[in-house]
Order: sequence, then C-alpha cells, then structure tokens
Amino acid sequence: MGNEREKQNAAAAAMELVEDGMTLGLGTGSTARFFVEMLAEEIADGLVVRAVPTSEETRRLAESHGVPLIPVDEVERIHLTVDGADELDEDGALIKGGGGALLREKIIADSSDHMVVIADPSKQILRLGSFPLPVEVTPFGFTLTARRVFEALRASGIDKPKTLLRTDAGHEAYVTDGGNHILDCHCGRIPDAEALAARLSAVPGVVEHGLFIGLARTVIIGNETGATLFEY
Ligand code: A5P
Repeated sequence: MGNEREKQNAAAAAMELVEDGMTLGLGTGSTARFFVEMLAEEIADGLVVRAVPTSEETRRLAESHGVPLIPVDEVERIHLTVDGADELDEDGALIKGGGGALLREKIIADSSDHMVVIADPSKQILRLGSFPLPVEVTPFGFTLTARRVFEALRASGIDKPKTLLRTDAGHEAYVTDGGNHILDCHCGRIPDAEALAARLSAVPGVVEHGLFIGLARTVIIGNETGATLFEY
C-alpha cells in the first residue's frame, strides 16, 4: 500500500493527545494498528495507560505488544478513543465497519469523552456512500432483514441500492466478533445520512450500522510529512 506513511503520520499526531493515566479505546484496521504499535513503544518507555480494544483482532495485537487491557465491563471512563474510518465527509460523519468491527467500535466511541479518527487522505469525500455501508444483522432472518434494509435504503433516496451478504475467504457468511453477519450496502451516494441512520436503526434485525454521525470530535488526516487536524 502506498499510503502507509500517511497513516503512520496520522497515528503519530494522535499519540500526542495521549496523556499519562488515560483509559484509551483502541480502534481496528490498518491505520489504528499503527497507533497501537506506537502506543506500545511509549508504554515501553514509561507511559502509563490502560486500554479497551474494539475487536478481537486489536485485542490480539495489543496483547502481543504488551499494551495493558481492561475488561470492557470494568471500564468506568474512556478518555480517548483512536480509530480509523472507511470514509469521512467534511462534517466529520463517517462510514466504518469495512473491517467488520463496527458494533464494538461504535459502543466504545459513543462512551468515550473524545473520539479521534485517523486516516489517510483517500478517505476524505464530499458525500458518504462510495464505500459500501456495512450493516450488522442477526443471523436469524437475515434474508427478511436484508429486504427491510433495502427498503430503508430506497426510502432514504438511494435509487438502486444493492445489499450483499459479506462472505469470508471460504465463501461462508462472514461472522462478526458478536456472532452476527454483515450486509454491505452499495449506495453510490447517500443523500441524507442522518435519515438513513434512523431508518436502519428502526429495522428489528439490524444490530448496528456503519454510519458514525456526531461521534468524531477530531479527525486527523496524515500526509507524507505530517498531519492536519480538524475539530468538530
Ligand atoms: C473496522 O471495522 C473499520 O471500521 C476500520 O476502522 C476501517 O475499516 C478503517 O480501516 P483502515 O485503517 O484499514 O482503512
């Protein structure tokens, strides 16, 4: 991948927001991975923090690097969460879940004092929707739920949506950390993300969707030499 330096620089800028004594939410994905690795280096140099991961993948990464973790149900306060994104618009609204971790990512982000998104410039777009929107659904009745999701997409002004059940390398239905499936919703362009978010949340078989609206307080876009911060 040609944008590793941009991701690294975004992660390094996020590291500067970390303070001794913080409880951190650790995101999932290739950009968040850089942050976890940098955090581990700081911890080795004496930084004292505790963390809660947003996926089993990040849990394994953090454990292997000696980052102290606490069980999520013992967390009283999360000061700062640092996570990646699949798309972000100029209002700081996001699509997340390309890596399948959207449910835990949203639970942790929503309970954090401060969510910081780190990304390379390819994630910035004018209007959300080019990236297929991940929607996590219960395995029970997922065909019925897919139909309701399709209707929600149509009712939200998306002309020709496609809802595809995500599969794994063995062509089986992909299973999330929470034991659910994911519908990747090809929208092309989402005219009103807030309205779509409300409609998706109202579908009984939908566990969570990948629209993160009003959660990111800081977005850090890395470039070849540094990073630019946007506050919301
Ligand atoms: C994981 O489920 C996603 O929400 C990731 O945060 C997102 O896919 C960004 O990943 P990259 O940093 O690998 O692009």
